[in-house]
Amino acid sequence: MARVLLVIAGGIAAYKVLEVIRRLRERGHETPVVLTEAGARFVTPLSVGALSNAPVLQDLFDLDREREIGHIRLARSADLVVVAPATADILARMAAGRADDLATATLLATGAPILAAPAMNPHMWNHPATRRNVDRLAEDGVHFIGPEAGEMAERGETGVGRMAEPAAIVEAISRRLAGGGALAGKHILVTSGPTHEAIDPVRYIANRSSGRQGHAIAEAAAAAGARVTLVSGPVTIPAPPGVTLVKVESARQMLAAVEAALPADAAIMTAAVADWHVEAAPHKLKKTGGAPPQLVLSENPDILATVAKGAARPPIVVGFAAETEDVVARAKEKRIRKGCDIILANDVSAGVFGAAHNTVHVVTADGVEDWPRLTKREVAERLVAHLAALMGGG
Ligand code: C5P
Repeated sequence: MARVLLVIAGGIAAYKVLEVIRRLRERGHETPVVLTEAGARFVTPLSVGALSNAPVLQDLFDLDREREIGHIRLARSADLVVVAPATADILARMAAGRADDLATATLLATGAPILAAPAMNPHMWNHPATRRNVDRLAEDGVHFIGPEAGEMAERGETGVGRMAEPAAIVEAISRRLAGGGALAGKHILVTSGPTHEAIDPVRYIANRSSGRQGHAIAEAAAAAGARVTLVSGPVTIPAPPGVTLVKVESARQMLAAVEAALPADAAIMTAAVADWHVEAAPHKLKKTGGAPPQLVLSENPDILATVAKGAARPPIVVGFAAETEDVVARAKEKRIRKGCDIILANDVSAGVFGAAHNTVHVVTADGVEDWPRLTKREVAERLVAHLAALMGGG
């Protein structure tokens, strides 16, 4: 049993926090709540108080409590502080170290770990100011769960910005209370899936990657307590809960999304990136009865090499090598050529694409480790354990 202090800020997702409170209470936790002025416009103190069965605090200048410097006591007595929904505004105020209301004063005064569940419009989440604030807060040790991709409250708008689901938030809270996991406080960037390279507005070149391995790695890293950004090409499988999903189509979009997500403590490039893109036609190509059209191919950027050799290189960069012959020899050469620390090499002649299993060889500067045939989930968990060991976390 723990004391989980919830800070509810003013966003449409505030109603979902009631479910978080209910689940925490079911687990026997105490759930005092600080409701910001804007938060109280979305959920009432009455409904929050009825569920939390604990004080719902709103005013920094509550005379009775402040005689005993109540907000300091409140901040000090929590085992964990959860900010949900973490709006762009409260993240900005936290990043600036403001203390102009009970919520921010409490967040500034607490020594407990802070978990934030961002929720905002995708434009606000992607704005450079929000990106700066999130990076700064992560540097300060604030942990994040989500946001996720999906439809926003504004009708028809989709993108990254939706608050993680209550079940995922509660799971992240349990993890934090249990000590945080082997990758707690780390930002892990994962690429996954294929890329689509447009030929014209309706056709594209693609490959058989399903995204299963990359998504499993993102899931395992999140389960180990990391903040995960998953940059994925078009796939049909769902994104794991609690990771920040950035959807892209082409290799060039993937590079831009990866660069925007840096800095990271590790980058794991699982995506099957197309080597070439087509000089795409602006209109649908037509059968003319004459010679078929000639596709003009140009080389795509190598995302792995660009990141591994770039100024914002994460301390650990992991690549994959899908080969059909000389698997390990080629992976050794690839590791050096691309400048990454680890290559997970696999033989794709045996139908790995879309399958549940994978047999990989781990190529590092120290040599080669052969892993047995494992599920992609097991490969992911082993890789995460390996990264945690390298980072000194487990
Ligand atoms: O050169 P090859 O495609 O075999 O390299 C595979 C590794 O490089 C994978 O980790 C893949 O994600 C990455 N890669 C990349 N950008 C490319 C091509 C490959 O990041 N354009």
